[in-house]
Amino acid sequence: MNKKLRKAVIAGNWKMNKTRPEAKALIDGIAPLVKDADCDVVVAVPFTNLETAINATKGTSIKVAAQNVHFEKSGAFTGEISADMLVELGVEYVVLGHSERRQYFGETDETVNKRTIAALSAGLIPIVCVGELLWERECDITKEVIARQIKLDFFGISADDVKKSIIAYEPVWAIGTGKTATADQAEEVCAFIRSTLAELYSKEVADAVTIQYGGSMNPKNAAELLSKENIDGGLIGGASLKAEDFSVIVSATK
Ligand code: 13P
Repeated sequence: MNKKLRKAVIAGNWKMNKTRPEAKALIDGIAPLVKDADCDVVVAVPFTNLETAINATKGTSIKVAAQNVHFEKSGAFTGEISADMLVELGVEYVVLGHSERRQYFGETDETVNKRTIAALSAGLIPIVCVGELLWERECDITKEVIARQIKLDFFGISADDVKKSIIAYEPVWAIGTGKTATADQAEEVCAFIRSTLAELYSKEVADAVTIQYGGSMNPKNAAELLSKENIDGGLIGGASLKAEDFSVIVSATK
């Protein structure tokens, strides 16, 4: 029931892939295939492709995301990009706390929280990623891990701002492995995320937040995952690099 009230969002996370000409070609390939989409379609491209993507998506329904943002407004932070810089380019979304950033680049819940606050105050829509490691699932602490991430990543963020945010549940063991969580496993955790939000905020807030599943989502498994009550969209890695595959996933929200 409530699912109909929420925005379905399919986002492609390109990770560290595509040069500018390749990015333009991929967007030109995706655009006609998703022009009648029932959901919001987002491409999260490398920083170097943002301007190309903004230009290539003009006149289409596709929105552009960055894959990270720094939490300070400006200053001596070599190699970093601020939220205002992204907004000035025309970027509308930003992926935060992806498990690859947590695993390889020392991202913590504290910095994810700061980045989320910075993104929201600049007017960006954060796609905040949470998810458990295989070892944590095997130790049966998935819910503790997810609750901790949600509590810390959204600490001090108002109900209105949480409602503007997207949460992506990405079990780390399912990313790039070809191992998808079953639709029931994914639904169980997405429902748990929603009940955690209801406890922290209210049922009204929890019902408003778009929750995506990510991790080896592909044209074959997307429809079943997206049919679940608490899965409102997807954050797609590998399959977002092929226009046809990505568009099939977009159509699966119908
Ligand atoms: P894959 O779809 O390649 O498993 O990646 C998922 C992901 O990390 C999206 O952010």
